[in-house]
Amino acid sequence: MPLVSVQDAAQILLRGGLVALPTETVYGLAADATNEAAVRRIFAAKNRPSSNPLICHLPDIESILRYAEFVPDWTRAFWPGPLTVLLPHRGSLAPSVTAGSKLCAFRIPDHPLMQQVLNLTGRPLCAPSANTSGRVSPVTAAMVEEDLGSKIDGILDGGECQVGLESTIVEPVTEKSVHILRPGAVTREDLAEKGIQVLEGGTQKSPGQSHAHYAPQMPLVVLSEPDPHGLTAMSFDPGRTLFLSFDRSGPNTLDLTEGRGLLQAARGLYAAFHRASALGVDLLIADNPPAGGIGTAIRDRLLRAATFTGCMRGERLFVRRREAANV
Ligand code: TXA
Ligand code: MG
Repeated sequence: MPLVSVQDAAQILLRGGLVALPTETVYGLAADATNEAAVRRIFAAKNRPSSNPLICHLPDIESILRYAEFVPDWTRAFWPGPLTVLLPHRGSLAPSVTAGSKLCAFRIPDHPLMQQVLNLTGRPLCAPSANTSGRVSPVTAAMVEEDLGSKIDGILDGGECQVGLESTIVEPVTEKSVHILRPGAVTREDLAEKGIQVLEGGTQKSPGQSHAHYAPQMPLVVLSEPDPHGLTAMSFDPGRTLFLSFDRSGPNTLDLTEGRGLLQAARGLYAAFHRASALGVDLLIADNPPAGGIGTAIRDRLLRAATFTGCMRGERLFVRRREAANV
């Protein structure tokens, strides 16, 4: 495994290389956001469409102001942290970072090693999640290694990511209102508490939200249907199935909360997808977590990853295939 130190990571990035870096959300695959050739290597390594822009990471608001025309004051309540804000940029980043958009996604990550690399390089670092496009975002260095190890110049191991889901992405609409383009650990309720209103709509503006995402390697059924009406019975082998739950244990069942609530479930979701591959199960069946708070983000990721939605009646499973257009 090409594990590197903080100093090596900074040197590799300054030379135009790619390094996977830990953040509090998920591992990112970083490059110098002012170096167009380096940024293009990210798209190649991830097999990511060039139309899907990247988040630009900086160590503080003062550095963001070198690249963004303004930064709303309320962001200070959430940064450093799992929040990404779309802002008009000044045109000094490599063009591929924003895929030609006037807006750039900015974030101040809350991870000591990532902060050290940002400060050592003195550069904005663009970093999508460090996975091949369409795969699950990595939450450990080992997950990065398994997926992208041979295609990148180094991995900085910062342990397991504390949040476990990608950042909340917002687009400011007025001084005190936003659209949420991707739900995350900074919730609608958190924003409201700081006087920021969340307006409906706007999700179609995030290119990365338009296609299948975050999918585990076996079919996933999310039990989000109220009843079997209009669904098709599906046979399955419970012995080769892993059930993901948010409150109950049982045979072949992983309680993602570990009795510690939904924040713990968010932290463990992608690791559970990964574990399902290691166990070699044929099918994942996930309960639908309660909506609201971090539950909204967990639901969002489960539904994006779902092959089917469904419901159970006793031991019987009924499903509906997800429409590609809804993913
Ligand atoms: O937590 C995170 O956000 C992680 C860590 C590494 O920071 N990064 C991450 O990046 O999840 P990525 O590339 O996997 O997801 C970024 C999302 C994509 O859906 C992309 O389309 C959207 O942000 N995005 C980035 N720049 C944008 C822009 N200028 N306009 C609209 N959407 C943008
Ligand atoms: Mg991603």
